[in-house]
Amino acid sequence: MRSIADQSTADLGGRTSILARQRADHVELDRLMQRLAGETGEAYERTFTTMNRLVFSHAFAEEAVLWPLLRRLFPEGERLTLEVEQEHQEVNELVVALDEHREAGPERERLQARLFEVLREDVRDEEDELLPRLQDRLDTQELRRVGWQWEVVRRTAPTRPHPVVARRPPGNVVAALPLSVIDRTRDRVDMAARVAPDRFAGTLRRSSQALARVSHLVERTPAMRRGERASTARDPEGL
Ligand SMILES: [Fe+2]
Ligand SMILES: [Fe+2]
Repeated sequence: MRSIADQSTADLGGRTSILARQRADHVELDRLMQRLAGETGEAYERTFTTMNRLVFSHAFAEEAVLWPLLRRLFPEGERLTLEVEQEHQEVNELVVALDEHREAGPERERLQARLFEVLREDVRDEEDELLPRLQDRLDTQELRRVGWQWEVVRRTAPTRPHPVVARRPPGNVVAALPLSVIDRTRDRVDMAARVAPDRFAGTLRRSSQALARVSHLVERTPAMRRGERASTARDPEGL
């Protein structure tokens, strides 16, 4: 099995194959992590939001489309996908923790360093272990079909961390639509708050906080935890 990291786009099945789409996002993630390391203040906040939008929609679509497929195709799929779901779970929890530790200091540095470490581990597991298996089993046309399925889910997926929601169907599929609408509305409100005159910015920030509370209630609906494995489950009261 060859890692998909060092193959040509043609070998991966062309730009629209799931393998090339995954790698393009991973390259963009790496670029954003490197940029974040040198940024502070408003520039940091903007890049961090961009990175989160990429990370959470990307991972959500993996959990909804790709990992169930791997479990159907390979006997070792259960073990392999549980490992990356545990990494995704930790990423969700680290971003929530970073949101709560906004002031610069050793704790924030520790959380960010760990976040980057887990994100890089996740990319390695996918490019070296999981995706080459798909390459071995599926032909080019199938790789492209899965690529489109993943892309459609990614474009409509939640864009923020939701550590309480299941990392597996059916819970994550039930959660997708309501959480995506709330997350994407919040993204737009936050963006507007950054450029609005001072007298409006406060109202916009309060609207965003109200949406965060709605999201908090929605993700605690029991149907959204169905399908979860014990190692990625979190007590909704503990977060
Ligand atoms: Fe990925
Ligand atoms: Fe991932």
